[in-house]
Amino acid sequence: MDNITTPQTGRSDAMRERNERLTRVGPGTPMGKYLRCFWHPVATSAELKKDADIPAIPVKLLGERLALFRSEDGSLGLVAERCPHRGAALSYGMVEDDGIRCPYHAWKFNKKGQCVDQPSEPEGSTNKDRIKIAAYPVQEMGGFIWAYLGPSPAPLLPRWEYAVREDYVQDIGISRMPCNWLQVAENTMDPVHIEYLHMMYTNYVRRRKGLSTIPVRNHKKLAFELFEYGIIKKRLWEGDNEDSPEWTIGHPQIFPGTAQVSYNHGWVQFQIRVPVDDTNTNLYWYNCRPHKAGDPQQIEVPIWDNPWANEEGRYIPEQLNAQDMMVMLSQGDITDHSQENLLESDKGVVLYRRTLLQEIEKVERGEDPMGVIRDEAKNTPWITLPIEEQISFGFDGVQASAAYVAPDLKQTNEHEPAK
Ligand code: FES
Ligand SMILES: [Fe+2]
Repeated sequence: MDNITTPQTGRSDAMRERNERLTRVGPGTPMGKYLRCFWHPVATSAELKKDADIPAIPVKLLGERLALFRSEDGSLGLVAERCPHRGAALSYGMVEDDGIRCPYHAWKFNKKGQCVDQPSEPEGSTNKDRIKIAAYPVQEMGGFIWAYLGPSPAPLLPRWEYAVREDYVQDIGISRMPCNWLQVAENTMDPVHIEYLHMMYTNYVRRRKGLSTIPVRNHKKLAFELFEYGIIKKRLWEGDNEDSPEWTIGHPQIFPGTAQVSYNHGWVQFQIRVPVDDTNTNLYWYNCRPHKAGDPQQIEVPIWDNPWANEEGRYIPEQLNAQDMMVMLSQGDITDHSQENLLESDKGVVLYRRTLLQEIEKVERGEDPMGVIRDEAKNTPWITLPIEEQISFGFDGVQASAAYVAPDLKQTNEHEPAK
């Protein structure tokens, strides 16, 4: 029988169900199970420094509230935040070398989640042996603390080239966005928005402010190709030859939702979209730049806030990153993708969603999805992904973001990547 179409929306139940499959990330949901096959940044190292006064912080990933903590020896723990005694938050607890104690009645949990002490109970009580909370593996790499919330055994934490190369330095811009992860991640698969949002709309805003306009360019061709870790996006700008690296090489969307984009001067940016829960996403702008001879060694990867709103709480239409965030957020907290009208220029978005749905089915069949790495040889010394070394468009004079702290990048847009 055909799918039922409701008069209110004109869209089928199957389309609405597909929307749910794509957007819900909590435990037990199809997308939640798929996303749990990957490591995700749960915090930055700078948010939980080795010498922090308070060595535990509350975090949330894939709809799960968690306590992240660091013992004095530097080792990390990640456990369910809610204490199973009477529900206080372990993220405000007392960190010890081998675990964390609840602040309320001092029950102690080790890094595997096992309750190992209940000081208020009679000596010899074995009640603690029957109490265990969720605990997850964590690893530190490239300025992030990564967590794996999926089934055992955990795959390898992918060693992306620019996150681990010693001749690169990094910084991390953080945007905390109150919307679903998919509308953030699929922006990469929509290359033509550069012409409209970042060029035409920029000029609209700049004209109204009495500022000079920027050149507008058009895409001549688009291509999207599946590869080992996701989808490569390729574009040919009008006026460029077919040997343009943006057309011959392009750059990847790494599944499930990270773009690796290129900009000139050898700089690379990862846009890492972390599903916090159904309606919140952490967007990390992870910039990787060649370490210049004579520069001091980087001790810690610095973090900075990349806001989507100004101090009055309004969107910032003249800034490039904020333009993207404006359109992602203005789609709603979980946009109803079943109400869209996708046409030829949306073919990247269509391929991305279709591939995600196929990957969900793989997980339902008990297979590893694309991009899960279990072979050390692939991960050593690092994973190199295709990326164009040069891009042929820019936004001269337009500020990339509201607050970019990396030295020598202030007031310039030269680092602004392709999106
Ligand atoms: S609520 Fe945690 S020990 Fe009582
Ligand atoms: Fe963009």
